Amino acid sequence: MDITRQGFAVTKKQVLIGRRHFLLGMGSFVGTDALAIASRYGHGKNPIQVTAQKSRDFSVAENTPLRNRAAAKGLIYGAATQTSILRSDTKFATRFAQECAMLVPENELKWKMLRPSLNSFDFTRSDWLANFASKNNMFFRGHTLVWHKSLPEWFKARVNSQNAEQIMLKHITTVVKHYAGKIHSWDVVNEAVFPEHGRADYLRNTPWLKFLGPNYIDFAFRVAAQADPKALLVYNDYGLEHSTPNDEAKRTAVLKLLERLKSKGTPVQALGIQAHLEGEAPFNTKKLRAFLKDVADMGLKIMITELDVADNMLPKNVLVRDRLIAGIYEDFLSVVLDEKAVIAVLTWGLSDRYTWLRDRKSRKDSASVRPLPLNAHMERKLAWYAIARAFDKAPKRGF
Ligand code: XIL
Repeated sequence: MDITRQGFAVTKKQVLIGRRHFLLGMGSFVGTDALAIASRYGHGKNPIQVTAQKSRDFSVAENTPLRNRAAAKGLIYGAATQTSILRSDTKFATRFAQECAMLVPENELKWKMLRPSLNSFDFTRSDWLANFASKNNMFFRGHTLVWHKSLPEWFKARVNSQNAEQIMLKHITTVVKHYAGKIHSWDVVNEAVFPEHGRADYLRNTPWLKFLGPNYIDFAFRVAAQADPKALLVYNDYGLEHSTPNDEAKRTAVLKLLERLKSKGTPVQALGIQAHLEGEAPFNTKKLRAFLKDVADMGLKIMITELDVADNMLPKNVLVRDRLIAGIYEDFLSVVLDEKAVIAVLTWGLSDRYTWLRDRKSRKDSASVRPLPLNAHMERKLAWYAIARAFDKAPKRGF
């Protein structure tokens, strides 16, 4: 056995890479030999089999962009991006407008960027994005109102249990009203669940919890609903996708939170599943499907809000890696889009040139990461074809 890196073992027998036949010209992908990689997940336990056959077909019929393919099924496809990127890279901006029907500010609506001080708001950058979205006939989406990260420098010194409620109220009211009528949905609360913190209610220890108690979530949703009764109000979280023990626990905990909120009449209307997928981690299709159904049965919509596939544990060979990543995109989305409560798929970035994973999950061999639908030159990768195929196969939603 050849241990290529910690937690990822590949035997020579298992890796059968023969002649490569790639035909990407008309969007078709043709290969021959089979590649099988056995990886070990979780310190040598639970060996899983990731297979990516070279013969797997990632072809699609037309050149049609993702936004149109999604729209044909009553779905929305979009991505997160940043003002500075769209302003400086016109090629990227053009491709973004072609492929996306929804724009999510990657950072511009977080407290750190929006709140220079306790008593001021700076909407310059987020307004620029809202305008770009509207000029290009795209939905605009809000991320995020209440989170324990991306808080400004002044937060720690200025916010306490006496004033936290007032500060949260003012923040949500001001920001949500600013975009009322122009926004599709808001991630009202982000990442509030973290079973590892050991609380009976599974909530994460955050400044908001410390200052306001567990009711801060309900409060945030009520304030948002009052400020804009039309925007779809979303609870957004990560770690809900794989069949690892942590993700299992997280699914249970998030369901419990949503049930608690619904029973109190909290105006939460959708679950945002971030879907920062890990290339080497296992899925359980049945469990994922059941989770989506449980959420849908509560009367909630579902959005895939931050989809990307981390490839830092995958083999270096780009052809092999792209095929594995594409397989994960198509397999994941096929399950997810089968659930009619799912209304949108958003990737966290569009091109590998601009991805948070470059810093967050860089590769030990220092090869560039390739987690997104377009490569660094704005060309469609197999991941793009995989997403396109999933949209083409998806059942049509009611209009
Ligand atoms: C990330 C951005 O992509 C980075 O640019 C920033 O430095 C940190 O935040 N979950 C979320 C997103 O809800 O807001 C995060 O975005 C990625 C994880």
